[in-house]
Amino acid sequence: MTNAALGGSFRQINRLNRTGMHADLEELVSLTKGLFVTFEGGEGAGKSTQMRLLADSLSARGYDVLTTREPGGSIGAEAVRHVLLSGAAEPFGVRMEAILFAAARSDHVEEVIRPALEQGRIVLCDRFMDSSRVYQGVTGNLEPGFVETLERVAVNGVIPDRTIIFDLPAEVGLERARRRSSENPDRFEKEQLETHEKRREAFLDIAEADPERCRVVDATHPPEAIAAEVLRLVEALLPGNGEPQSSAVEAAS
Ligand code: TYD
Repeated sequence: MTNAALGGSFRQINRLNRTGMHADLEELVSLTKGLFVTFEGGEGAGKSTQMRLLADSLSARGYDVLTTREPGGSIGAEAVRHVLLSGAAEPFGVRMEAILFAAARSDHVEEVIRPALEQGRIVLCDRFMDSSRVYQGVTGNLEPGFVETLERVAVNGVIPDRTIIFDLPAEVGLERARRRSSENPDRFEKEQLETHEKRREAFLDIAEADPERCRVVDATHPPEAIAAEVLRLVEALLPGNGEPQSSAVEAAS
């Protein structure tokens, strides 16, 4: 059963009240089991921007939202992030890189994501396990069994309730990513167009294979239209379809 299914009813928590301070100052809406949403896709698809917009919309509705990213998101994983994105691990091969991504993910899951979900928070994560399936598995040519084993160990049962895949032609995404970081493209941005196109197909294959978890969004649409669609996709998983809860409205007013 997914986190969303388990989180069928609201639990109102009052963080300040818990610590014995100004009970009426802050009241956040939490879910009984939290909600885990991941943002996936190729370079330059706009997923980070969309994640921030969604976080703002949900926070404005009174939800307790945590945004995070991979590789990284915890102290240990951020240390590994630098090793991966600088290309320092590249000479040691794709298996080494895959294991490092998994090590970072395990730390992130246990130190940040799982505790937040247990507190009933909505966790939005910029890239997660599907990036490893695609970048290390498909375009890294690693054996599927190896990638699956690493994934199982790293996520340790924490599977996203919803994964939003931002889809756009590889050349459009690459062009956007290059404009953004023309000085210093990271280790993964430097690769060939053909590789990026393969990744696009691989993300679409994941979506097709797991339609309950995944939704594909056309990332060539205007940002406001995408934001509205993303909100709709996540609201569908919230009790009462994401309508602000009365106490949250009161707290905001
Ligand atoms: P980042 O700067 O976070 O970029 P983006 O905006 O594209 O998310 O870089 C993360 C890079 O790491 C990106 O090129 C994808 C790659 N990556 C993997 O190869 N495997 C993984 O498991 C993850 C999480 C990321």
